[in-house]
Amino acid sequence: MRGRFQKQVEKKVAEYTASILFDRRLYRQDIAGSIAHAKMLAKQAIISDKEAELIVMGLSSIREEIEQGSFELSAELEDIHMNIEARLIEKVGEVGRKLHTARSRNDQIALDMRLFAKEAISDTIEKLIELQKALLDLAEANKDEIMPGYTHLQRAQPVLFAHHLLAYFEMLRRDVERFHDCLGRTDVLPLGSGALAGVPYPIDRAFLAKELGFSKTSQNSMDAVSDRDFVIEYQAAASLAMMHLSRLAEEIVLWSSAEFDFIELSDAYATGSSIMPQKKNPDVAELARGKTGRVYGNLLAILTTMKALPLSYNRDMQEDKECFFDTIDTLISTLEVFTGMVATMRVRGEKTRQAAEEGYILATDLADYLVRKGVPFREAHNIVGRLVQYAIEKGKSFKELNISEYESLSPLFGEDVYSITVESSIEARNAPGGTAPERVKEALEKARKSLNE
Ligand code: ARG
Repeated sequence: MRGRFQKQVEKKVAEYTASILFDRRLYRQDIAGSIAHAKMLAKQAIISDKEAELIVMGLSSIREEIEQGSFELSAELEDIHMNIEARLIEKVGEVGRKLHTARSRNDQIALDMRLFAKEAISDTIEKLIELQKALLDLAEANKDEIMPGYTHLQRAQPVLFAHHLLAYFEMLRRDVERFHDCLGRTDVLPLGSGALAGVPYPIDRAFLAKELGFSKTSQNSMDAVSDRDFVIEYQAAASLAMMHLSRLAEEIVLWSSAEFDFIELSDAYATGSSIMPQKKNPDVAELARGKTGRVYGNLLAILTTMKALPLSYNRDMQEDKECFFDTIDTLISTLEVFTGMVATMRVRGEKTRQAAEEGYILATDLADYLVRKGVPFREAHNIVGRLVQYAIEKGKSFKELNISEYESLSPLFGEDVYSITVESSIEARNAPGGTAPERVKEALEKARKSLNE
């Protein structure tokens, strides 16, 4: 029997409470934490050097067994911590029972999660930067292409295609910053907090922090075992990143439709229909759009789990893992496929340009033209509004209107009105942050430089 318990736990209860099916993913972190802990115990003469040596050897070989698949993790042993500890005792004997001195599963799991999160954050940042690079490559390769810029999904003003793509580069830059911030707060060692109150042994937490690569140690044992802010922060940052990706996804879906026809996806990043042979579907983009919902759901799940929990550790917190792992896997895989999809897509510059030429997209430029001749902007806006109305009635484009038609709306229109083109419109927008080629060239260079840093 186990300690004070007289009965074995009910099978259904064991299954219900077990976490081994998902926390097995923490085995590397768990073993690394235990190795550092054993070394620290020996250094502080809490156990002997010989004992620590046996424990460290045992733990290293358990890691190999798990990696080779020769060690069966068992649901009866509840979680990854108990599985590894039981195997350690099997392998090195009684001395294995000393490992859990000056430690609790509460500070142990907090440690494992932080170690795992730190790696996940670094991987995520790396993948975000790879996608930024693919976007930048695409922008540079198409730096002269012109497309309509949209508001309300209505053609609004012409822009450079590169300018549009660099908008996503900026979003991802902020995402990288957010994950960096999150890393700073995750990089705190909780080990040494015990179950909640600290430990009654002369432990060396600075040594543990150094061994495990943490730059700070937690200040309050109760906070350290019960805080999962870092899991929530990752998920919040991931939700924002997925939101950004879902917007790019949506544009890719639109752009690859026959209605837009702005891009062509590589065959390797599209799929066919089982019944309609003509179709080439942007499934990757659609799925990314869809998976964004799940990532938001995971954020809400962990926020709700943590809400109103009394201090300190509560078993509820075991529920922090599956949604966290799912979000990490979803974000990282989405970033990976997006990088490939963006790197291999072809921009149909002739089509984007044609779309930018159509309609009355230069209306703002006509108003600005009148402003330069002294008309107040609001009035200029009105005059051009009437001009558009007139042109629509006549079924003519701005270019097709003759000078007397222009003059009938304002005597200030002259022959030079015909020199307003999509190019001149784009060139004119050269205030900082605008789409003028000069500004975009600077932005591309700045972006490249930031990636090389
Ligand atoms: N499996 C647990 C979790 O993930 C580990 C900590 C268990 N602590 C406890 N007192 N039962 O949260």
